[in-house]
Amino acid sequence: MALSGNGDNFRARRKRMMEAIAPGATAVMPSAPVAVRSGDVEFVYRQDSDFYYLTGFTEPESVAVLSPGHPDGEFVMFVRPRDKERETWTGRRAGVEGAMLEYGADKAYVIDELEKILPRYLEKSDRVHYPLGLNEKLDERVLKLIRWAHTMRPRTGTGPSSIIDPRDIIHEARVKKEPAELEAMRRAMAISAEAHKRAMMKARGGMGEWQIEAEIDYAFRSNGATGPSYPSIVASGPNAATLHYINNDREMRTGELLLIDAGAEYDFYAADITRTSPIGARFTGLQRSLYEIVLDAQLKAIDAVKPGAHFDAPHEVALRVLVDGMRQLGILHGSADEIIEKGAYQRYYMHRTGHWLGMDVHDVGLYRVDGASRVLEPGMVLTVEPGLYICADDENVPESFRGQGIRIEDDVLVTADGHEVMTAATPKSIADVEALTTAQ
Ligand code: GLY
Ligand code: MN
Ligand code: MN
Repeated sequence: MALSGNGDNFRARRKRMMEAIAPGATAVMPSAPVAVRSGDVEFVYRQDSDFYYLTGFTEPESVAVLSPGHPDGEFVMFVRPRDKERETWTGRRAGVEGAMLEYGADKAYVIDELEKILPRYLEKSDRVHYPLGLNEKLDERVLKLIRWAHTMRPRTGTGPSSIIDPRDIIHEARVKKEPAELEAMRRAMAISAEAHKRAMMKARGGMGEWQIEAEIDYAFRSNGATGPSYPSIVASGPNAATLHYINNDREMRTGELLLIDAGAEYDFYAADITRTSPIGARFTGLQRSLYEIVLDAQLKAIDAVKPGAHFDAPHEVALRVLVDGMRQLGILHGSADEIIEKGAYQRYYMHRTGHWLGMDVHDVGLYRVDGASRVLEPGMVLTVEPGLYICADDENVPESFRGQGIRIEDDVLVTADGHEVMTAATPKSIADVEALTTAQ
């Protein structure tokens, strides 16, 4: 059951979009292209986030047109036709009638009529909003029509003289989440919490990382998620020091650390959670020391999330705590200021502390405005994910430190008076993690 698929939400978003481009402009939005996996097999289709945000429509080979004030209708859709035979193979299509009745289009046409119908909208517009490069096949068709409408300009006095990327407007809208969007995200996060708990409980020495990936997939799908919102990272021992390790093909050993970065997608919205736990055991003294540094950095960074604070604030806080911790453990030497200024910490902490989260795991929206780190506002959701990574071949540290990685990642909503950790149901205190890793 879709949470964000309420017609009113989509209508309100289109209305805001039309207000932003009016008067004298038309927006043409392509659906995501179909991607071939191999031979005649396609990847499972996933609609473009911006297209879904405005329409709620999940079928490929579609185009949505927003043309404020146009006498023939302001919201027009081009879709695949109904086709009894094709639908027997690949499932129901909404068709032209469905686009109007179920998705609120004022007018709808089959996609093959694009060349015939779209010029009616383009020739009345001074500007066309179109995201070039998203769907190359469609780019060719739309650009041809725009060029044609442009050549009519001297005669008609109208017709587009500029192509503008509509994504700036849509992405700014997407940065601040509506209640229905937050609801879908909460579902994705609740399902992800179950997956992480299951993984910590199941992971034991002698098992393969792939088996834990399968447990995560099971938890996602059996609880109603579409699947993972990005490839799950199940990284044991030294693999955890590879940031985007997704092979998940190593046999795990009891007592090693296991870093799992996995989040479900529910109704087009993502969760993004990382936990690190000792496989089938309690933390060793050294693991505990490293874990406590990362946890302390994360908790203090989360505290820095509030309206009016800058997006970079959590990163700056986390970095300070990580550097102090590494100095105390003898991993880094010198003053904290010097280490930060020279970037000496980057050997062990090489990524930023967070990113926007929403329909996309690395969600859209500006991080800097007018040259400065963006000010946080209620409704924004960001991840807070500090980590420490020590490569297996790092000869600057004692051998016992080498070949491990720790990251702790939560999803945090900026609220009117501070923040809410939306992923708080995923255990991260040492006691709560060990209760699962040592459960019989
Ligand atoms: N899972 C990707 C990230 O944490 O940014
Ligand atoms: Mn993340
Ligand atoms: Mn992540």
